[in-house]
Amino acid sequence: MTGRLKGKVAVITGAAGNIGLATAERFLAEGASVIAVDRNTEGLKAIKNSTADNLLAISGDVTSETDTLSLLEAATKRFGRIDIFFANAGVEGVIRHVPDYPMDAYDRIMEVNVKGVFLAMKHIAPHMSEGGSFIVTSSIMGLIGVPVNGPYAASKHAVVGLMKSAAIDFAPRKIRFNSVHPGLVQSEMFNRLVQDYEDPEAKRKAALGSIKLGRWIVPADIANAVLFFASDDSSMVSGQTLAIDGGQLL
Ligand SMILES: NC(=O)c1ccc[n+]([C@@H]2O[C@H](COP(=O)([O-])OP(=O)(O)OC[C@H]3O[C@@H](n4cnc5c(N)ncnc54)[C@H](O)[C@@H]3O)[C@@H](O)[C@H]2O)c1
Repeated sequence: MTGRLKGKVAVITGAAGNIGLATAERFLAEGASVIAVDRNTEGLKAIKNSTADNLLAISGDVTSETDTLSLLEAATKRFGRIDIFFANAGVEGVIRHVPDYPMDAYDRIMEVNVKGVFLAMKHIAPHMSEGGSFIVTSSIMGLIGVPVNGPYAASKHAVVGLMKSAAIDFAPRKIRFNSVHPGLVQSEMFNRLVQDYEDPEAKRKAALGSIKLGRWIVPADIANAVLFFASDDSSMVSGQTLAIDGGQLL
């Protein structure tokens, strides 16, 4: 590791999940101090290679305005600044065609995947350091339509609109906004979703077949792309969408 985030303070939401965990560990290895947030507090204990000095684990719900304000207070109290915000917490919804989609699943998706990101932009971005970087986890479903999880695709398109708008809004303060768009990542989320299909094994095979580079995408692949946006290597990149999909969309 090369210390590409040395001296920087990064918040990661959904840090107990597959992508969040891989990114937290990568950020720590690159010299950042990390505030790891998740509603699954127990899961945050899995973060490796941290010390009491460089990691603050916080239980929080990204859909709560109160929790977002508490997060801001806790992070600034502990580390004095926020340079990087990785808005990554998300839920996957269910595999249903539009007419059969349950309204409670629709509401939950919009609440976590869209409002959760917006609250961080509204309350935390204004307090980020000049030259900071805000990264959102969208999905390849934020770039294309999908027949069986329309509300998820809608939520992941919505955050691109928020990201591009915030990129303009915060440009005078030199805070950059970008989004990462993972393809099908080997993860608990994918495992849960695949079970919703009539033939999970066939879906799994088809999913792997759609990845033209010929191997599963793993959380570390996403962490690498997030690191690029978080680091000064991308200091003139803002408002961009980057698919990490092994060529799925080609
Ligand atoms: N796994 C994939 O194939 C895939 C593909 C494209 C995009 N994504 C996106 O990547 C992001 C991370 O997903 P993952 O694959 O690591 O899934 P995951 O389920 O392993 O992790 C998601 C994490 O978010 C947390 N979370 C959910 N709702 C929350 C809330 N309201 N407040 C705080 N924390 C909350 C969960 O507790 C969990 O730890 C999500 O936004 C997801 O939509 C995943």
